[in-house]
Amino acid sequence: MEITPEIKQRLEQLSNKYAAIGQDLVSYLDGLIYANPLNYWDYIEVEALLSLQKPKTDYPDEKIFIVYHQITELYFNLIIHEIDQICRNGKVISETGQDLGWNEKLSTDFFISRLKRCNMYFTTLTSSFDVMRFGMEKEQFTKFRMSLLSSSGFQTAAYRRIEIACTDLKYLVYEKERERLKDSDFHEQLDNVYWRRGAIVEETGQKALTLKDFEDKYLQEFHDFADTYQPMNLWKKFSSLSESDRKNPSLLKELRELDININVNWPLAHYKTAVHYLARGTGDEKGTGGTNWQKYLPPRFQRRIFYPELWNDQEKQDWGKKWVNEVLSDQIKTGSKI
Ligand code: HEM
Repeated sequence: MEITPEIKQRLEQLSNKYAAIGQDLVSYLDGLIYANPLNYWDYIEVEALLSLQKPKTDYPDEKIFIVYHQITELYFNLIIHEIDQICRNGKVISETGQDLGWNEKLSTDFFISRLKRCNMYFTTLTSSFDVMRFGMEKEQFTKFRMSLLSSSGFQTAAYRRIEIACTDLKYLVYEKERERLKDSDFHEQLDNVYWRRGAIVEETGQKALTLKDFEDKYLQEFHDFADTYQPMNLWKKFSSLSESDRKNPSLLKELRELDININVNWPLAHYKTAVHYLARGTGDEKGTGGTNWQKYLPPRFQRRIFYPELWNDQEKQDWGKKWVNEVLSDQIKTGSKI
């Protein structure tokens, strides 16, 4: 076999790559001789993936419910993956694919391009929520749901991690306490985060089991996560840019879109779905374990805004209003049966 200049060049690159980490190229070439070719099913772990759906009932539509939650978890995970890279200023990878660590400084182009990805993932999740809203028979849902109590999508830890990495916790404090705690330590702010007042049992005002279990499992982990991500969250990253970079229209557009995607559009698609399945028009429909979901889920009522400084007073005043009005008028039009 002829050793062409192309092959020689690749061998030199490989030799440099392994020399840099104190390894011997010949042993790795031996490894290539013995290794099986990679196939799709092993690489993607198809069998493992398709073994992860374990319905608790025989209702066929429960599978849709499980798969769609899993898809959402995967997207959430991709979003955290992108946010993490922004927080750490972007990876430097050598020509031979080696990880050379993190950049000293965050480039605005990198910031924008990764925010675009997060927005793309959130837009996909929002538009695909119809798979939940219209993709299951209501009769089946109401039955298999009873076998899942007290578990709820409320217990999605990834959603909380995204929030902690996106902005200062002072913006996520329960609205009535937001002003009082605006200068507190971020751990105290996390202890008063809005969702700890969600999943409250309507009749007793006590925390639902859904919330208690979630706090037992994750609250400490969220504090640890906040230790890592609060000092380098997306708002801190934006604030640390030069004045001219902070005026970059594309960057501002992506940050504002992220705020709307996470705090209005996705919550609204989700809320419409909850209304579709849970609202019966009697006004006392209960969420998981009898929660206060009607008062808690609409974006208009929580008024979570990651980047209040990027919105004018009117925009903040009207946060989520247009969309909530749409849902409410839908309810009226259809005699409260959406
Ligand atoms: C038929 C589909 C769904 C219904 C009826 C529904 C219903 C609810 C309800 C009633 C709540 C309030 C807490 C409770 O009572 O459990 C809630 C919270 C939540 N659900 Fe869902 N959900 C659905 C699908 C999903 C999906 C696919 C996800 C994605 C992981 C999800 C994620 C969440 C999150 C993150 C919360 C907390 C929201 C917040 O804190 O603002 N849900 N859901």
